Amino acid sequence: MKFNYPLQVAGDSTIADEATEIKQLVSGVEGWLSDAEGKLLYKLAKDIPQGQAIVEIGSWKGKSTIWLAKGAKAGSQNEVFAIDPHQGSKAHTDEGEESTYPTFLTNLEKAHVQDIVVSLVTTSSKASESWRRRIGLLWIDGSHEYEDVKYDLILWKKYLSCNGIVALHDCDKPGPARVIEECFASSDEFKIIESTDTIVAAVKC
Ligand SMILES: C[S@@+](CC[C@H](N)C(=O)[O-])C[C@H]1O[C@@H](n2cnc3c(N)ncnc32)[C@H](O)[C@@H]1O
Repeated sequence: MKFNYPLQVAGDSTIADEATEIKQLVSGVEGWLSDAEGKLLYKLAKDIPQGQAIVEIGSWKGKSTIWLAKGAKAGSQNEVFAIDPHQGSKAHTDEGEESTYPTFLTNLEKAHVQDIVVSLVTTSSKASESWRRRIGLLWIDGSHEYEDVKYDLILWKKYLSCNGIVALHDCDKPGPARVIEECFASSDEFKIIESTDTIVAAVKC
């Protein structure tokens, strides 16, 4: 599935210098996020109004967390809540991966963003049980199975502010693509605003 929505990010000269610096910072951090996707997350996080949380579902070793946190710092200093049990996904544990938490913390410290990131070492489902804040940006990059992506969206969308943004990763995969189709493309609740590489972002109407 190919999404064509307006995207100002790649050509946005106002964030070009900041992004170059962050690109260098994250170049040593493992992960699947492209630089263009990182830049999009940075811009979205930077633009979130003050007092609204930024929530990440699926941090792994912190690549997207760093882009979000740098955007938050450049913007309204909103906290980034990074939710991940850090036990590795099934695919990763099959490869013998142990906890990603120590590497995650080290990567945040190296990027000097640990002060704006609140790490919740648990699943999105558990974290949602005690959640109370308004969310300005919800970034979903946990499990990419259709049921899991949809469950995460349903669990968390009620906390999105009016005009809050939700962004999904790996929308070229069947699970997220189906969620986009069902919940964004043909819905009055969300309107797709941007996409780049495999991220699709929508605003809550
Ligand atoms: C693709 S990785 C995330 C990559 C990361 N965003 C980055 O930029 O490198 C997926 C992560 O989602 C986490 N995860 C899987 N199911 C989850 C759940 N229910 N709640 C929170 N995190 C979950 C896994 O532990 C794994 O670290």
